[in-house]
Amino acid sequence: MTMPKRPIRFATLGGLFEQDDVDAVTKVLMAATEPSGDFFPLPEEADFQQAFARHEGASAAVMVNSCGTALDLCMMALNIGAGDEVIVPPLTFVCTATCAAARGAKVVFADVDPATLCLSPTAVREKITHRTKAIIPVHFAGLACDVREFERLSSQYGIPVIYDAAHAVGTRFEGQPIGGCGQASCYSFQSNKNFTTLGEGGAVTTNDKAFAEAVRQKKTFGFVYGPKLGVVTIGFNYRMTKPQLAVGLTQLAKIDRTIAWRLERFQRMQELLIDVEELILPASIAPGHGCHLYVVRLNTERVGFGREQLRETLKEQFGVQTTVHYPAVWSWEAFEAIDHDRSACPVAERACQEVISLPIFPKTPFEDLDYLRTALVESIHTLKRKGSQ
Ligand SMILES: Cc1ncc(COP(=O)(O)O)c(C=O)c1O
Repeated sequence: MTMPKRPIRFATLGGLFEQDDVDAVTKVLMAATEPSGDFFPLPEEADFQQAFARHEGASAAVMVNSCGTALDLCMMALNIGAGDEVIVPPLTFVCTATCAAARGAKVVFADVDPATLCLSPTAVREKITHRTKAIIPVHFAGLACDVREFERLSSQYGIPVIYDAAHAVGTRFEGQPIGGCGQASCYSFQSNKNFTTLGEGGAVTTNDKAFAEAVRQKKTFGFVYGPKLGVVTIGFNYRMTKPQLAVGLTQLAKIDRTIAWRLERFQRMQELLIDVEELILPASIAPGHGCHLYVVRLNTERVGFGREQLRETLKEQFGVQTTVHYPAVWSWEAFEAIDHDRSACPVAERACQEVISLPIFPKTPFEDLDYLRTALVESIHTLKRKGSQ
């Protein structure tokens, strides 16, 4: 007998916005109805940058309009260009790699750690050459990567580390925020992240004042303000708008609560799935995990069917929408034309075929988690039965 369907969407925003967020945006818009009103980003930009840097343990934050542009700006600030190599994991969103390719550099993929699915420092060491000009590890799903080992590699070889922290607002490494690690960290405030600035947004955090200034100039046409406006470098317009900055402040004020809600749900899901031997669960869901994504892996070596069959059954039979973070970056068509090295990444190759992100958000009802367990277990049994017929 099949159970009644309880459709669960992969909801991106998940009810994260509340009255105080609406009020903050409304206040900015109302002020702009006055003849003297404007959308000049101060004081919100300065306040948000300061508060975000403090929360993430960095001395400076520069707000930009996405994590993609944050990564682009870091590549520019490091003068990455043709002839250089940049090491990235294959299991990530495409822009972790394309930020380097866009500057003419060669993208070098190194394998991920089998337990954490974050870029493996050991695998990175194998891929370092005299051309390596940056390493971009990702704090995958919100779990901090091995920051200490990357710092060691960085100082041993003199190679800057730029962390892709798109999933990592609120992530901690050994109890400490990660925003001050390496040369810089790039955060995302896009719709489905731990918090959002009206759908798009991002930040670069760093402890290096000169680097922060280089990024700030690049994001604003190369402007230097003073008695006389100067243009000191080729720059762009990657700014965040005033209403976004205002809502960033209200969202940030609630981020620890939001992550606590996520953590409760992720921990419950770990308990519910612990005995499902066809699945490989996240290595660690504990305080300090940013809990951006709850990613399980279908253990394809144990079962006679593939990840896509499981996702289809979950959708068709149970109304459960899942997603995939991520197909291997090199599998995207554009990479056929991009200079890259994808050798020796067996862990990522397998993981990219097995990962499934479950629809769990800060306000997901706990009954949904029970339903998710049942849906997963029954779908796996159905597919196993079909396979043995
Ligand atoms: C790992 C990773 N890096 C970068 C990005 C890009 O973020 P944004 O959409 O803010 O440019 C994403 C977005 O999903 C991501 O998951």
